[in-house]
Amino acid sequence: MELKSLFTPCSIGGKSAPNRLVSQAMEGNDGGPGGSVSERTLNRYRKLAEGKWGIVIVEAISITGESLPRKNGLVLNRENLDGFRNLVSEFKKINPQSLIFFQISHSGYKSGPFSRRTAICPGIEDADYLKTEEIESIKNSFVETVLLAEEAGADGCDFKMCHGYFGAEMLRPMNTRDDKWGGSFENRTRFLREGINEIRNRITNQDFVIGSRLSLYEGIRGGCGTIGPVQIIEDTSEMDRIIQLMNDLEMDYVNVSAGIPGVTSEITRPTKTSKYFYLHLARYARHVKELGTSLMVMGSGYTILGKEAAGFADENIEKGYTDFAGFGRMSFSDPLYPNKLQSGKEINYCTACSGCTRLMIRQVNDGCILYDRYYMDLHKSKN
Ligand SMILES: Cc1cc2nc3c(=O)[nH]c(=O)nc-3n(C[C@H](O)[C@H](O)[C@H](O)COP(=O)(O)O)c2cc1C
Repeated sequence: MELKSLFTPCSIGGKSAPNRLVSQAMEGNDGGPGGSVSERTLNRYRKLAEGKWGIVIVEAISITGESLPRKNGLVLNRENLDGFRNLVSEFKKINPQSLIFFQISHSGYKSGPFSRRTAICPGIEDADYLKTEEIESIKNSFVETVLLAEEAGADGCDFKMCHGYFGAEMLRPMNTRDDKWGGSFENRTRFLREGINEIRNRITNQDFVIGSRLSLYEGIRGGCGTIGPVQIIEDTSEMDRIIQLMNDLEMDYVNVSAGIPGVTSEITRPTKTSKYFYLHLARYARHVKELGTSLMVMGSGYTILGKEAAGFADENIEKGYTDFAGFGRMSFSDPLYPNKLQSGKEINYCTACSGCTRLMIRQVNDGCILYDRYYMDLHKSKN
């Protein structure tokens, strides 16, 4: 199969990615004490560096230990900075061409019980309702953490606003808070607007790439991709305005995803029985491209296509339906995927067995249970 576009370079912000393949953020739940970078974490990113992806997005990194979805999730703070600096430097030593971005996150209601589960709206039984000043402080921590990502040497960041995490909770029409963070479109996007403006004003390296991952449609009442607090049918007109806003804020890219893992999981991650959801993800990316902004567009959910994925990604890029193709589970099953694709070596295709998802739910270290002995044994052990 001739791949015309997949291995062409592409500018993103002030940088250039060597090809269009993106290793999407994938939580490995293998951080060290206090959310630091462990040797296992480091080794995963060394492998991805060898894989020669155009861009590697480091998994959800929390702004504080209080907003973790996984027990051993990563936290970027001043104490852990050297570990993250080392991660970038090890990555660049192996492969100076590929770009490495950090996904900066707060898990909001998706924070685990070992952390602090929070709610944007009052009356949620098992979560702490966030006061006005607490949201201000979360916004400030987002800004500080992105600045730390820059200090660590990352090429860019992903301001996480997808998959039901805090950033997405803020955007939803169901965010009917009566303070400055809820209700009107202006209030619901204040977190994004003020956060990005502050980052832009304080960043020292103007080439630092700034983007965000969005769930274009979450599939829940009042969720992202609907137009009212109790609406459920997809209508992306408000998300279109958010993307226009991202463009006005001079952000560099939008990573187009959908759904909420654990709630409307198949929309995020097509499985064997829901394979054709990949077409919705491709349609969302194309829709965002058609808005005609200057944002670079990354598509999601290519893994389920297995051997056909590279051809489909190439076709979408060729037709101008996306700029980048993002692979989640495939980056676990074969971190060397782009490298092997180019050199013709045998590829460990993900079979969508959902083993990595099961490990994630069990709160143990996460990886591919099919091709990696360590995770295979962990999966069998059931502890
Ligand atoms: C084990 C696991 C961990 C994930 N971690 C993250 C994450 O940290 N951040 C994120 O935005 N998405 C995360 N995702 C979603 C993936 O990035 C991706 O969107 C999803 O798997 C669909 O893409 P795929 O079909 O190529 O796997 C995760 C998915 C899985 C299965």
